[in-house]
Amino acid sequence: MIERDATFRLTCPGCGEPRALRAPGATGDGSVHAAPLPACAGCGAEQSHEDGVLILDAEPGVGEWPGEVVARVAEVEEQHWWHASRNRVLGTVLRRAARERTLETLVELGCGTGFVLRHFEQWGLQVAGLDMDRAALAVARRRVGGPLIRSGRLAIPLADPVDVVAVIDVLEHNPEVPLLAACRDALRPGGLLLLSVPAQPWLWSLEDVMSGHQRRYTRRTLKAAVEASGFRMLRQVPFHLAVTPLAWRAAHRPLPDPLPTPAEYFGTTLRAPSSRGHALATAALRLEAAIGSVVPLPFASHLAALAERT
Ligand SMILES: C[S@@+](CC[C@H](N)C(=O)[O-])C[C@H]1O[C@@H](n2cnc3c(N)ncnc32)[C@H](O)[C@@H]1O
Ligand SMILES: [Zn+2]
Repeated sequence: MIERDATFRLTCPGCGEPRALRAPGATGDGSVHAAPLPACAGCGAEQSHEDGVLILDAEPGVGEWPGEVVARVAEVEEQHWWHASRNRVLGTVLRRAARERTLETLVELGCGTGFVLRHFEQWGLQVAGLDMDRAALAVARRRVGGPLIRSGRLAIPLADPVDVVAVIDVLEHNPEVPLLAACRDALRPGGLLLLSVPAQPWLWSLEDVMSGHQRRYTRRTLKAAVEASGFRMLRQVPFHLAVTPLAWRAAHRPLPDPLPTPAEYFGTTLRAPSSRGHALATAALRLEAAIGSVVPLPFASHLAALAERT
């Protein structure tokens, strides 16, 4: 049963005191007004807001994407079978867990443009998102009502433990140990870590290089990383087997020399699919999900996982 009556409090970066985080309100014209955080009662620290996003780190972040790439991502996400299908897989994984537990709050570390976070907010969860990319957070602000925080610190600066931390296609960009420790620290005991990662190292391709991935996972390496960080793995769900041949073909293309810049690469490759391609892939992936719910797939190009904080 999912209920909504939770709020988030920020741990003051100045003194560690909790400070209520108010979500920005809708203005009625599709935009949101910023809800400035009052100065900290403990130390007087003030945090700036930028278009409804709380700015904890003001410096431009390493790995911030050019605004035009982010805008293209946001447009393509709304039209692409890949993103819709991943939301369905993640929703199924979390929904099963929600049958046995009360889940109210979810924070996503690396929420990007908020495409996944919006999905979970629409379920009725109270959500908050963190990311280091300002352009992505500006898009997320239009999609999500909950608090959004700009930070790249490998920490989740919330004062109260949450029910779910989602790390969706983010772990492979980061050092595992500090990121998983930050997730664990943010969760209540028994709280859930929801993960999605690119899988199968033999599918490594130019896409991984351009995306800034440090690794692809197997069920074994993901379980080992998660369980070494104070979690018990509950479930692993390989997904997108039906389109794995596309990833396999990409993995067999030699890397170009010189490499394009990520902006050049994504400028040419990020495209909405044709309506026929979209319909075909959607049908194939729905069939795959139906089969996978009866007979777990052995592997696929992506891996979702759910782990419990011990
Ligand atoms: C591949 S995108 C995924 C976005 C979103 N989770 C989704 O799946 O649609 C990775 C996102 O994680 C963010 N990110 C990666 N490492 C981060 C870190 N250590 N702190 C904050 N954000 C991070 C990036 O800025 C980027 O927006
Ligand atoms: Zn303070």
